[in-house]
Amino acid sequence: MRSGWLVLFLVSIIECDRHEKRFLYFAYGSNLLKSRLQINAPSAVFITPARLPGYRLDFDNYNPKWRGAPATIAADPKGEVWGALWALNYSEMASLDKQEGLKDGLYEAIDIKVLNIENHVITARSYKMTSDPPKVRPEVLPLQRRPSNTYIQVIALGAYQCGIPSYYIEFIYRFPANGRNATDKLSQELGYPFNRNIRIS
Ligand SMILES: *[C@@H]1O[C@H](CO)[C@@H](O)[C@H](O)[C@H]1NC(C)=O
Ligand SMILES: *[C@@H]1O[C@H](CO)[C@@H](O)[C@H](O)[C@H]1NC(C)=O
Repeated sequence: MRSGWLVLFLVSIIECDRHEKRFLYFAYGSNLLKSRLQINAPSAVFITPARLPGYRLDFDNYNPKWRGAPATIAADPKGEVWGALWALNYSEMASLDKQEGLKDGLYEAIDIKVLNIENHVITARSYKMTSDPPKVRPEVLPLQRRPSNTYIQVIALGAYQCGIPSYYIEFIYRFPANGRNATDKLSQELGYPFNRNIRIS
């Protein structure tokens, strides 16, 4: 009986320790790609593909490093966004916040509830632009809101590697790219051009 309690006690310490040190992060944009995420968060470990109901994928706010508009999630009762759940060391939350541009007020951090493939609800941290862009059909996304070729390829390859359903990868390709590449520095960090340039038709 006593040793039973001791085991329970030790297990709870280990559990507590684990929760202290790591947090769950839901990525839906360029951080779907592990090599991209690990530039700023080397501790990232892939957990599962997951979907976020009540939001849609969208793009806005031209970014000079990407040479195109990055992704956001916008509130949308009819929408659903697929992404990846990653577990990260707490110590890397600050560098993730920095990458997401929290300080500039462009993005904000939010706690969201996502569903894994068994439909279990999981709470995770994510980021969205502080103002939602107006909803348009992906095909008619205005030029200034289009992601770069590099960006679209990064999220499509990342989605593929994370096991996100192919219909959703096709959906990503419905957003027209702006014909530009990310800067040489960022391209190099990403290992772009990818030797595996996927396109599902
Ligand atoms: C993440 O945390 C674990 C446990 O503290 C540690 O062993 C590991 O080195 C950390 N990883 C990085 C990349 O900091
Ligand atoms: C973008 O990069 C690809 C792969 O290196 C290259 O083939 C293409 O010409 C580049 N496009 C532009 C607009 O620079």
